[in-house]
Amino acid sequence: MRRTPSLPVLFVLLAALLAIALAAGIAWMRLNTRSASSADGTGGEIAVATGIQIGGPYSLIAQDGSRVTDETFQGKFQLIFFGFTFCPDVCPTELAQIAAAMERMGPDAQKVQPIFITVDPERDTPEAMGEYVRHFDPRIIGLTGSREEIDQVISAYRVFARKVQEPNSSQYVMDHSTFLYLLGPDGEFVTMYRYGTEPDELAKSLKGYVDAAG
Ligand code: NI
Repeated sequence: MRRTPSLPVLFVLLAALLAIALAAGIAWMRLNTRSASSADGTGGEIAVATGIQIGGPYSLIAQDGSRVTDETFQGKFQLIFFGFTFCPDVCPTELAQIAAAMERMGPDAQKVQPIFITVDPERDTPEAMGEYVRHFDPRIIGLTGSREEIDQVISAYRVFARKVQEPNSSQYVMDHSTFLYLLGPDGEFVTMYRYGTEPDELAKSLKGYVDAAG
């Protein structure tokens, strides 16, 4: 004997199905966002559409208090990462990866200058920057500057950065984009890497560019 489900039962079933579909949809979207924004172990380089200008002149203050410009490091490849010293996990992870890639490059590393530029110049003094980068690799140079100078370089590299007030803390954090930029010995933009690119992969790619430049 077959019982026809009553209207309320059908409605409940339909609502349950809808909820499942919705949950699956959300899970799918989360998965996709995650794979687009973090390590996926495939190359690490990000294609940049032609005609999109990335980089340009900058004038900032190094950890020793000296003024440096984009021309200071020309002749070497510049590997530039933007972040801030209070960063709870993204920046330390990336700087550790850069340090590991530098190790793996051996003597070729001499042709690459890793640079960490703060997006939080209010707290990141030259001293704070120096103290911070030293923990990862003494070859990394930390750069800060006035709010205007930092805004200028952030905009030139199309970096996204904004202050976020933590609900239960007097401190703010910076929400920021996490790409790693490579400039050639002429100071021109070469490529960019996604956050989480494995040190082996990064070192291999950097060595490729260094070798190609002779
Ligand atoms: Ni960070």
